[in-house]
Amino acid sequence: MLINQEKTTAYFADAPADIALSDVDLTRVPRHVSIIMDGNGRWAQARGLDRSQGHVAGVDALREAVTTSVRLGLDVLSVYAFSTENWKRPQREVNLLMHLFATTLVKELPLFHQENVRLRFFGDLTALPKETFDVFRQGLDETADHDGMTFALAVNYGSRAEIVRAARDLAAQAVAGEVDPASIDADLFASQLYTEGLPDPELLIRTSGELRLSNYLLWQLAYTEFYVTDTFWPDFDKWEFLRAIAAFQGRSRRFGGVV
Ligand code: IPE
Ligand code: IPE
Ligand code: MG
Repeated sequence: MLINQEKTTAYFADAPADIALSDVDLTRVPRHVSIIMDGNGRWAQARGLDRSQGHVAGVDALREAVTTSVRLGLDVLSVYAFSTENWKRPQREVNLLMHLFATTLVKELPLFHQENVRLRFFGDLTALPKETFDVFRQGLDETADHDGMTFALAVNYGSRAEIVRAARDLAAQAVAGEVDPASIDADLFASQLYTEGLPDPELLIRTSGELRLSNYLLWQLAYTEFYVTDTFWPDFDKWEFLRAIAAFQGRSRRFGGVV
């Protein structure tokens, strides 16, 4: 994605000692970065606050991550916001998160317009409360014409459910005579996933130090580079993002071959 060099330089002024814009090659930024935003609860607990305040602080970090991604010229930023397993949390926390998704999206629509960001969702939205579902629909409709960066929010997303759904859809198409089972290959399978049409993430970032995928993009992350930071999500800022990109650019990706 094309960047406005002036805006990007201004955005990354005031660099800390260890990282600066000049540490990354802007011609080699990943097309798609995905983030498992983790550690809101622990961030709050460490400050003697309620977990919910960690989620509220997490929204600010997400806004910054979207802006950073635009300034760096990513094609796609995707983030894991709520998993199919997160329904197990106390009802009060689930309600707060669903309400926060709705109110945040409405509030951030001007940013998406200003930055030409197109919105997209991964996950089964039909199970969401009506308030959240309606706002998500509105967000999709209002940003459908934007042709800048794609911002994908994974909500009620689980990779196993996604893969099972793809298998079920293909099986139904085969039974209906629309698909020849012999023609099912990796590309056709991928076209049935929520990420249809998007490049696989080149870089996956997970905050708060956990070394696991928690049912996220199992198919799409087959050859993705992982970057884990101990920083809790609400503290993840543009400089943390830049450190992750710099680390990615230092990796040697082989895709099973030799270099
Ligand atoms: C990530 O932070 C946000 C969501 C999963 C919605 P957590 O709420 O998982 O925070 P920790 O991991 O308990 O600290
Ligand atoms: C993964 O975080 C899901 C999201 C960030 C939305 P969790 O906090 O739910 O994952 P686990 O429970 O630590 O594996
Ligand atoms: Mg967590």
